[in-house]
Amino acid sequence: MKITILGSGGWGLALACTSQRLGHEVTVWSAFSDEIDAIKRTGELHAKLPGVMIPKEVRLTTDISCVKDEDIVLIGIPSQFVRSVCEQAKPFMSDKSILLSTAKGLENGTLMRMSEIISEIFPKNRIVVMSGPSHAEELGRGIPTAVAVASYDKEAAELIQKAFSDNVLRLYVNKDVVGCEIGGAVKNVIALCCGIIDGLGLGDNTKAALITRGLSEITRLGCAMGGSEKTFSGLAGLGDLVVTCTSMHSRNYRCGILIGQGVDPEEAVRRTGTVEGYGCAPVTRKLAHKLGVEMPITEELNEILFENQPVRQGIIDLMSRPTGEE
Ligand SMILES: NC(=O)c1ccc[n+]([C@@H]2O[C@H](COP(=O)([O-])OP(=O)(O)OC[C@H]3O[C@@H](n4cnc5c(N)ncnc54)[C@H](O)[C@@H]3O)[C@@H](O)[C@H]2O)c1
Repeated sequence: MKITILGSGGWGLALACTSQRLGHEVTVWSAFSDEIDAIKRTGELHAKLPGVMIPKEVRLTTDISCVKDEDIVLIGIPSQFVRSVCEQAKPFMSDKSILLSTAKGLENGTLMRMSEIISEIFPKNRIVVMSGPSHAEELGRGIPTAVAVASYDKEAAELIQKAFSDNVLRLYVNKDVVGCEIGGAVKNVIALCCGIIDGLGLGDNTKAALITRGLSEITRLGCAMGGSEKTFSGLAGLGDLVVTCTSMHSRNYRCGILIGQGVDPEEAVRRTGTVEGYGCAPVTRKLAHKLGVEMPITEELNEILFENQPVRQGIIDLMSRPTGEE
C-alpha cells in the first residue's frame, strides 16, 4: 500500500519503520526541513527518536502534496496542530484515502476530539483512530506492542489492522471511536498527576490510588460522551493509562515529576517539549462541567497548573474530599 505519514516526530518515525518493514511504500512529511535534512544526513532523527535508523527506502519530504492518491494518510502530529496540518493537506487529499489518526488530545475552544476535527475537514474520507500503550522509543526498536484501532467503518479498521500488523505490532479492532479517543487524550492528564506524586517523593500506594481513581474519572467522562465502559478496561483505556503513568518515556509523566519537584508548570512544559496533558487538562475540565461529570483529579490538576495551587495542597484537597463508595 502507499502510505504517507504526516509528522516526523517519534511516533510518525516509529510507524514509518513498521510500515516499511511490512513492505509498504512509505513517505514521511515534515513541516520542518531541518528534521528531514537531519534524517537524510545521519539516518536518524536524534532529537525525536535517538538510535532508531530510518530505512533508506522511506521517502522524506516537506511537500504536503505527497498526500495525493495515497491509500493511507497517517496523522502523527501533536493534537494542537492537527487542524492546521489537515487544512494544508486538504487541497491534495483524495476522498479514497483512509485517514489514520494517531494524535491524542482534545481541541481547545471547540472541545473536539481529533477524529471530529479530521472529519470536519475531510467529510468524505473514512477515518480510523489508533490508540493504546505505545512508546515510540520501544516500537521503533521492535519491542512487542499492542494497540486498538477504532472506526465507524469496520472494513476500514480491519484494513488498517491488516496493513500494520506483524509480530512486533499487534492491532485489535474496537468499534468505540469515542472511548478510544477519550482514553488516549485524558490519560495524559492523569500521567501529569502521577509524575507530580513521584516528584513529591510520595509512594506506590498513592500512585496506584491515583491511576485507579483516574481511570474511574476517564471512564465516567468517556461514557457520558457516548463511549463504551468496556473500552476503558482495554488497551486504549487501562493499557495506555498504565504505560503513560509509569514510564520515563512519557513526557507528560516526566513533566509532572518536575512540577512535583517545585518547578513552575509553564517552565516544566518548556523544558519537556510536547506535553499534551497540559493543553488537554482545561479542555477536559470544560467537558466535565458541560456534561456534569465529576472529575476531582482533573480539577485539582487544573488548579495546580493554572491557578497557582501548591502541589501539596492539591493532594490534601483530594484526600480530604467526602468519602464514599467505590
Ligand atoms: N511518542 C509516542 O510514543 C506516541 C505514541 C502514540 C501516539 N502518539 C501521538 O502522536 C502524536 C505525535 O507525537 P510525537 O511523540 O511523534 O510528537 P513529537 O513531539 O515527537 O513530534 C511531532 C512532530 O510533528 C510535527 N509538528 C510539530 N509541530 C508542528 C506544526 N506546528 N506544524 C506541523 N507539524 C508539526 C513535527 O514533524 C514534529 O517532529 C501525538 O499526538 C501523540 O500523542 C505518540
